Amino acid sequence: MCGIVGYIGNKQAIPVLIEGLQKLEYRGYDSAGIAVYNQGKINIRKFKGRLSVLEEHLKKETIEGSLGIGHTRWATHGEPSDINSHPHSNVSGDIVVVHNGIIENYMQIKKFLKEKGYEFISETDTEVLAHYVDYFYNGDLIEAVKNVLEKVRGSYAFAVISKSEPDKIVCVRKENPLIVGVGEGENFIASDIPAILNHTRKIYLLNENELAIITKDSISFINEEGKNIEKDIFEVSWDVAAAEKSGFEHFMIKEIHEQPKAVKDTMTSRIIADQASIKLDDIKLTKEELEKFSKVFIIACGTAFHAGMVGKYVIEKLARIPVEVDIASEFRYRSPIVDDKTLTIIISQSGETLDTLAALKEAKKNGSRILSIVNVVGSSIARESHDVLYTWAGPEIAVASTKAYTTQLIALYTVALYMAKLKGTLTDAQITEIKNEMMELPNQIEVALSHKATIQKFATKNSNARDIFYLGRGIDYAVALEGSLKLKEISYIHSEAYAAGELKHGTIALIEKGTIVVALLTQDALYEKTLSNIKEVKARGAFVFAIAKEGNTDIETVADYTLYIPEVSDILSPIASVIPLQLLAYYMAVEKGCDVDKPRNLAKSVTVE
Ligand code: AGP
Repeated sequence: MCGIVGYIGNKQAIPVLIEGLQKLEYRGYDSAGIAVYNQGKINIRKFKGRLSVLEEHLKKETIEGSLGIGHTRWATHGEPSDINSHPHSNVSGDIVVVHNGIIENYMQIKKFLKEKGYEFISETDTEVLAHYVDYFYNGDLIEAVKNVLEKVRGSYAFAVISKSEPDKIVCVRKENPLIVGVGEGENFIASDIPAILNHTRKIYLLNENELAIITKDSISFINEEGKNIEKDIFEVSWDVAAAEKSGFEHFMIKEIHEQPKAVKDTMTSRIIADQASIKLDDIKLTKEELEKFSKVFIIACGTAFHAGMVGKYVIEKLARIPVEVDIASEFRYRSPIVDDKTLTIIISQSGETLDTLAALKEAKKNGSRILSIVNVVGSSIARESHDVLYTWAGPEIAVASTKAYTTQLIALYTVALYMAKLKGTLTDAQITEIKNEMMELPNQIEVALSHKATIQKFATKNSNARDIFYLGRGIDYAVALEGSLKLKEISYIHSEAYAAGELKHGTIALIEKGTIVVALLTQDALYEKTLSNIKEVKARGAFVFAIAKEGNTDIETVADYTLYIPEVSDILSPIASVIPLQLLAYYMAVEKGCDVDKPRNLAKSVTVE
């Protein structure tokens, strides 16, 4: 997720661009840049690091001009660096682009353009757009962009300016936000409303595949059929703070709702429907190398550890290779049995968690191959790993991890399928079936999110609970651990997650009249057994909130309250079953008046031991 801003009008562009980028820094902050046209030249200044690095540079030189575009980057392709920062231009610097999203077929286009003599200087997918517009440009920027749009695949929002046509900005959106701000003798574009709210509250919301041509006195739109269209102006009533959360009350609830897109983006170009092949980015794990491994370790902390718990079940089930999951801070100090026959999977949203980084180094020192699943490109853990599979969740601002968790699961499913393919433990038909189900997961999340009002009502009624227990068997137990952590860390309500079969070995002594128990029953093979565990706690007076798959209606005769998630295979069920648990924790915390995005005692990235 990156931030785009653009200006054309009578004022100096730089102050407007910088102010807009400041408001968009939450969308991406590993590098920033601007491009401004002035007297026959487009000046580009772009730097790795926070926006302040660019701001400090711009204090030392005056760049004039009233047409400009700017960008804050959240790296996906190409580590954070000056060269990989946006804007990107063609060789002559006449055509300049800023982009948010993923150009899925950028490698094929890059190869085609290289054969035509184009030279590339960055590792990004975005640079392809600048050269491709150049390739099609023959005096009409709009036509050149339209030609590019016929060829590129992926999800993107991008804006283009040209030295040859300095009276306009051409921009387009596909699955990534882009708005147009309406001014007096000036107009604006941005990824998000906060960037331009100080200049105008009149905006146009671009729809899918719509192109916009912005001059200082006009705004026109072309739809994907190439027809000129009229659009209604939307009057923004939000204040800036609300706008940064796209109208949501907290970043956490915004990020919970971003999960359909985050999951889809993380699958993009790796999971292609109706094909048994799995594209694992640049990871070159060969069949011979995989067969050398006698064991997989999954090491992480907190939510990432809970994702690893699911990963264990999935990798063992699909790839039939032994998996051991460990908390990073424990792994480091127990003289783990690790050697060059161990594949270590490190999971970390921030890529900076010190316990996890230290565990990585411990495993690496003992000869293990390190594959990390990370959400921050170029982070310490990514740099220390032999292979990295990035989750493309975009920046996760709330301390409580939500979209990082579900995208980590997607990455683990992808690794498990990749291993199963190499080892031949699944047939192509079986792999294709699972992948086709995975393509449906964003919709499953939407269905799970549709129950939020019901969950909010339950949470409001029970937010004064002293203890809440979470139960599940198998993969449901792993998800129960995550649900319990979510509740604890943002509502401060004590909670424990238990393997449902283990309850009778002690903890059931804590169950008394009115004790709230959240029970997950999504695993078909374990449904009856978990049902009997629920009867055990009911018999002792518990109030049971059950989460089951559609169709298992007999649970309603046992549980006090049942919430259904869509029918999906057991291994994929956590993507949907975790949603009500995230929402339950969120609404309990809101009802208790807790600081949801910044819970007490916690940090977003724990860089201390
Ligand atoms: C999860 O909601 C917490 N914020 C915390 O447990 C977190 O998952 C843990 O600190 C690991 O962080 P990482 O994924 O950035 O390594």
